[in-house]
Amino acid sequence: MASDKSNDAPKEAIFRLFGDKPTSGLGFLDFPEKPLPPAPPCLEVLLSEVTADAKCSMEPVNVAGLTLLKGRVSTEEVFALSNSDLVPGKYEGGLKLWEGSLDLIAALNSEMENGRLSFTGKRVLELGCGHGLPGIFAFLKAAAAVHFQDFNAEVLRCLTIPNVTANMEENPQYLSGEVKEGRISTETRFFSGDWGEVHSILDQGTGYDVILMAETVYSIPALPNLYKLIKKCLSSPHGVVYMAAKKYYFGVGGGSRRFLSLVEKDGLLFSSLVAEVADGSSNVREVWKLHLK
Ligand SMILES: C[S@@+](CC[C@H](N)C(=O)[O-])C[C@H]1O[C@@H](n2cnc3c(N)ncnc32)[C@H](O)[C@@H]1O
Repeated sequence: MASDKSNDAPKEAIFRLFGDKPTSGLGFLDFPEKPLPPAPPCLEVLLSEVTADAKCSMEPVNVAGLTLLKGRVSTEEVFALSNSDLVPGKYEGGLKLWEGSLDLIAALNSEMENGRLSFTGKRVLELGCGHGLPGIFAFLKAAAAVHFQDFNAEVLRCLTIPNVTANMEENPQYLSGEVKEGRISTETRFFSGDWGEVHSILDQGTGYDVILMAETVYSIPALPNLYKLIKKCLSSPHGVVYMAAKKYYFGVGGGSRRFLSLVEKDGLLFSSLVAEVADGSSNVREVWKLHLK
């Protein structure tokens, strides 16, 4: 079981999606009928496109026995939004570090320790990456390729890419394309866009061996597109998905169980619970593993 004890990141830097109260306290939920703006265009963002528009300061996060680096940028500077968790259809929360991403890393680490998972030589996709720490964990564990997807290109440019670069610089064996100590350096690529469209630019190739996602299943209307995207991208027959999420997101109605009911109805994937985090600090969080039947 993943435990919160492995997460000793600064508490103020980790956010709880929609809190644990029956109402979210977020303004936009007072207007649930408001139509969403058109989705931003799908783009591949290059590693060199890192932006200096917003100041990004790095701080350490200790998780699963590793110290990862994470940036801190202001939502106000990047999106001109103050004090906002997310604004549906405009900014989907990627600039903050949500607690599920640390639950996911802790669960991946225990899966590796128990011999149930290896990233060595694998192609990995992190959906809804934000900071991208689970994807960064995968490249530190010798994945061959890690592709990061976020709704907003700005998140990739201001935060995900700086995080990837900072963590690579801490671990220079990943910097060149040479084979070092028998390990080939990781290919990292970055894609932005809505789950309904982003498959058109993702390099699906033979599919991804491992798909990672944390705190992505909160919005009920987005779930069908997210599930369709997973089915398009998952390599067959051995691809595996690891999903961290709250069991239920108060105020918006999504959650791990809502997503899994969609998966179950479709009948293609088998799901199993990998970890449960019920530390009393928020509603129950879970990590699930999905694979083809
Ligand atoms: C709450 S944030 C979680 C970020 C990160 N995984 C974490 O746990 O810190 C949700 C993420 O899901 C992605 N997302 C939400 N709705 C999306 C949509 N309709 N299409 C594409 N991405 C979406 C955004 O990229 C956003 O970063």
